[in-house]
Amino acid sequence: METKTIFADFEDEREAVLGAVAALEAGDVVALPTETVYGLGADALNEEAVAKIFAAKERPKFDPLICHVGDKRDIEKYAEIPEALKETVAQLVEAFWPGPLTLVLPKKDIIPDIVTSGMPTVALRMSANPIMRKVAKHLGRPIAAPSANRFGRISPTSANAVREELDGRIPLIIDGGACMQGIESTIISIEEGETRPSIRILRAGPVTKEELQKYGKVEKPKYKDKAEKLEAPGQLESHYAPNAKVILLESPSQFKAEAGKTYALLSYRGSAKDGYLELHDWDEIAELSPGTGKLAEAALRLFYLMRELDRSGVDYIVAEPVTEKGVGVAIMDRLRRAAAKRPAAH
Ligand code: TXA
Ligand code: MG
Repeated sequence: METKTIFADFEDEREAVLGAVAALEAGDVVALPTETVYGLGADALNEEAVAKIFAAKERPKFDPLICHVGDKRDIEKYAEIPEALKETVAQLVEAFWPGPLTLVLPKKDIIPDIVTSGMPTVALRMSANPIMRKVAKHLGRPIAAPSANRFGRISPTSANAVREELDGRIPLIIDGGACMQGIESTIISIEEGETRPSIRILRAGPVTKEELQKYGKVEKPKYKDKAEKLEAPGQLESHYAPNAKVILLESPSQFKAEAGKTYALLSYRGSAKDGYLELHDWDEIAELSPGTGKLAEAALRLFYLMRELDRSGVDYIVAEPVTEKGVGVAIMDRLRRAAAKRPAAH
């Protein structure tokens, strides 16, 4: 299959929007920009189209998809919001939509089981990317869209990265430039609590725990056993994996080079003071936050730089830890998963 690209013209997005809508209406999959990472979209109400997402990504059917809506009010069409949570959900939508917050809520019957992997809940979000939003609005139906990478690999933050992942497997990429956030949305579930609603962060992302605390008591997801853990998002311990092996250090003294191997350093601030730069004669060095040292910049560049370093062909990518607060929690989560041991190839 030939993979076409439509470049979005920022002064007139019509061609890109209408091209995407036509493909989705025809039951095809389309890679679309969002503010977090590129998504591989399909009409969420068309089961055959959704099946094509799983095929192109080689994604196991037990991993449910996020649905993107084009209007805040659509949440009522696809989710059955419990009476006691209506006010909190409305506040969260008002505060964070359009934006990188995904809400897991009881689903309405209209959402097919293939989208939710048979679960009674649906994950909904409204992207801040104008192209994605307009496509969803024009289509008038939710767009199921996981990140546009092959399963288990690094999420794409540019149209080129999508092509690297899915060239020849999908008919169309909408190139809307680089993603603004660079890291996937925060996913939460909400339950009634004793005094305040209880908000569980199922996947850390750009919307931080600190920001969510205003709307309820933020708690860690709790799992009774391992089987239940598999039902939660981003659930696989090993994820975001480049070809190179990733080593996440806690301190410089942990590093030991193996003879004959090549090493790249993924530095947080590129500062010698942190003690990693001069630890080794690195084959490659990339800085997550060369500007102001802010975490948002590090999030924005994380997947892009992991791809770059991987392309250099090194055996190992050694990552410095970043400050684990705000969006730093999400960055460390992704680095830990990238560094987690992969199951043996089969
Ligand atoms: O920023 C994002 O969220 C991007 C862009 C494209 O929107 N999408 C994304 O999708 O990261 P994906 O499929 O790579 O990750 C979605 C996660 C998965 O780990 C999945 O298990 C979880 O969301 N998820 C989806 N529906 C769920 C549900 N009903 N309950 C719990 N987790 C759910
Ligand atoms: Mg993903």
